[in-house]
Amino acid sequence: MMMPLQESVMEEASLNPYFHSLDLTIRQNRHRQDALIEVLHKAQEQFGYLEKDVLTYIARELKLPLSRVYGVATFYHLFSVQPKCKHTCSICLGTACYTKGGQALLDILTKELHLKAGGRSADGKVFVRVERCIGNCGVAPAAIYDGKVSKQQTSEQVLATVKGWLEEQ
Ligand code: FES
Repeated sequence: MMMPLQESVMEEASLNPYFHSLDLTIRQNRHRQDALIEVLHKAQEQFGYLEKDVLTYIARELKLPLSRVYGVATFYHLFSVQPKCKHTCSICLGTACYTKGGQALLDILTKELHLKAGGRSADGKVFVRVERCIGNCGVAPAAIYDGKVSKQQTSEQVLATVKGWLEEQ
């Protein structure tokens, strides 16, 4: 059965470390509605762009209508509601993936390609993000390349995939 959006957003928020960081910003601003721009900044910094679930979460936490939050997010050029990168590499750092070496998958991207979680490549082609358990713990450590889950990844495989993207013409 499909979960209502609000419920699924809250579940995602409780699992995703990026939401924890966003939450901290919201709490530091005491859930003030006039902190919306600052909160949107933090969210974009964390997630790379302002996807609908993130906007829904912010609207709920600041007790603002989603239409208002969406309106602000689309009004300012510095915010983006669409992923701007051609490719996305997500590394799962949920417990199972982490204990099976997930962190090394992220570290190799930082060490070799200067890519960090929540960041994009200098040419804007690749966005890297961290997931907190994607429900495929049996294939840990998992990486998701452009939305496709790849099982039991090694640092070499992650590096080769992302390097390949960067070398694309
Ligand atoms: S911890 Fe990575 S899929 Fe569950």
